[in-house]
Amino acid sequence: MEKRYFSYQEIHKTAKSMAERIAAAGFEPDVIVAIGTGGFIPARIIRTFLGAPILAVGIAYYDANDKPTEFPRKVQWIEEAERQLAGRKILLIDEVDDSRTTLEYCIRELLKHKPAEIAVSVLHNKNKHKRGAIPQEVKHYVVGEELDDVWIVYPWDAKDIDFHDSMAKR
Ligand code: G4P
Ligand code: MG
Repeated sequence: MEKRYFSYQEIHKTAKSMAERIAAAGFEPDVIVAIGTGGFIPARIIRTFLGAPILAVGIAYYDANDKPTEFPRKVQWIEEAERQLAGRKILLIDEVDDSRTTLEYCIRELLKHKPAEIAVSVLHNKNKHKRGAIPQEVKHYVVGEELDDVWIVYPWDAKDIDFHDSMAKR
């Protein structure tokens, strides 16, 4: 599969453009929910522009015995803070919308807490067949950049950031 490398500089600019479009849509989040681990860095950059606190969640596709599972499950979730979600405007952030399974799962879990509104934003959406769907309750779905079905290489996965950046420049 074709690989696409993205530098921190590109990610930062993409996150800024996401924040600008979210603001332009009139959505002012009370809280950002970051899907770990890929959503952590984009969420933190977006916080620079939109200024809301960040809550983190973790989703896994393996069970307690390290066996793959068909559906996602929570490995880390908002517990005490969960109660604060009612009536609030939530911005859910992840790095990539691939199969859409994780996004749908997280949105449905968040909807159980009766937020006032949910907006969803990802750095990259792959244009491919999706297993999940964005529920209708989501008012805004903001994509940083639309991509074909390529393998995205993120700078936070780089063992050698100089090599990574040279690949990103091509
Ligand atoms: P979804 O967010 O659209 O539902 O994606 P999906 O569940 O299919 O993704 C499963 C895992 O695969 C996620 O990581 C996602 O970040 C990762 N992934 C999908 N496509 C790419 C890609 O092109 N490049 C990279 N680097 N990762 C991709 P995860 O298991 O949640 O772990 P984490 O890496 O976020 O910690
Ligand atoms: Mg992820």
